[in-house]
Amino acid sequence: MKVLACLNGEIMPVEQAKVPVWDRGFLFGDAVYEVCRIYRGRCWLEAEHFARLRRSLQELEFPSVDVDGVIHRVHRTIDAGGIVEGTVYIQITRGVAPRTHAFPDPPVPPTEVIIVRPYDDRPTARLRENGAKVITHPDLRWKRCDIKSTNLLANCLATEAARRAGCHEAILVDSAGIVTESTHTSLLWVRQGRLGGTPEGPEILPGTTRQLVLRLVRTLDIPFAESRIPLADLLSADEVILVGTTTEVVPIIQVDDTPIAGGRPGPVAARLWEAYHDEVERFIGQGG
Ligand SMILES: Cc1ncc(COP(=O)(O)O)c(C=O)c1O
Repeated sequence: MKVLACLNGEIMPVEQAKVPVWDRGFLFGDAVYEVCRIYRGRCWLEAEHFARLRRSLQELEFPSVDVDGVIHRVHRTIDAGGIVEGTVYIQITRGVAPRTHAFPDPPVPPTEVIIVRPYDDRPTARLRENGAKVITHPDLRWKRCDIKSTNLLANCLATEAARRAGCHEAILVDSAGIVTESTHTSLLWVRQGRLGGTPEGPEILPGTTRQLVLRLVRTLDIPFAESRIPLADLLSADEVILVGTTTEVVPIIQVDDTPIAGGRPGPVAARLWEAYHDEVERFIGQGG
């Protein structure tokens, strides 16, 4: 299966896609991105991902970007790559201009890169089945984590620490000892029969998967409440659950050295996964 890039509208093998060194994405991380899952050749939660992309662009005062045009090029690239099960990565930078911190004046055209590639779900499927171990790590990110920018160095450091510990993810903990989210997934927990999650705000990314899961819990009659909880409360939770675009729904069975839910995937995670999976099946069934 070919990995294709669409660079500023031109589709090519990913190895041929080159960006100038004056690109502000390269120099400053002055760029926003999205990652969508492709099921049976179609983009899952497309409207939600592109609404978030629009918001990220707006929050960073990007000059106008034709997001409908981006969506069209995403479809073209998926079709050209013949990708059935995969992911699409979309990145838009503020464009190419000699290095200076202030925005280019007058504005320059944004750089747009779309990459489609196959995705092998089997490792994640094993985690869904058996549960995953995670570490905790200081949340070193900036104060606008609600914007999906490509400035991911703090996320990379925490993910690398998790990898070295033989763990799947790192749960981020702020300087006050409150858990926020994970490096590339949203964090949920179950305490006293209630599902919990960090309130939406600048501390976390508004996850598209979390948004869907929170819609599903209403029909499942699982009570949900947002709250900021200290790490100690997370460690004594009945369940801890990660949700995200490629992760989907993964139960956590250990945080640092503390077993969660007796070290086995819990019942709420199982119900959420089933409901989530049904939604995906319905989407696939709509085909077209
Ligand atoms: C920091 C962070 N939180 C949460 C998520 C989950 O978001 P989504 O469900 O839209 O994939 C991501 C996804 O990349 C992320 O990077």
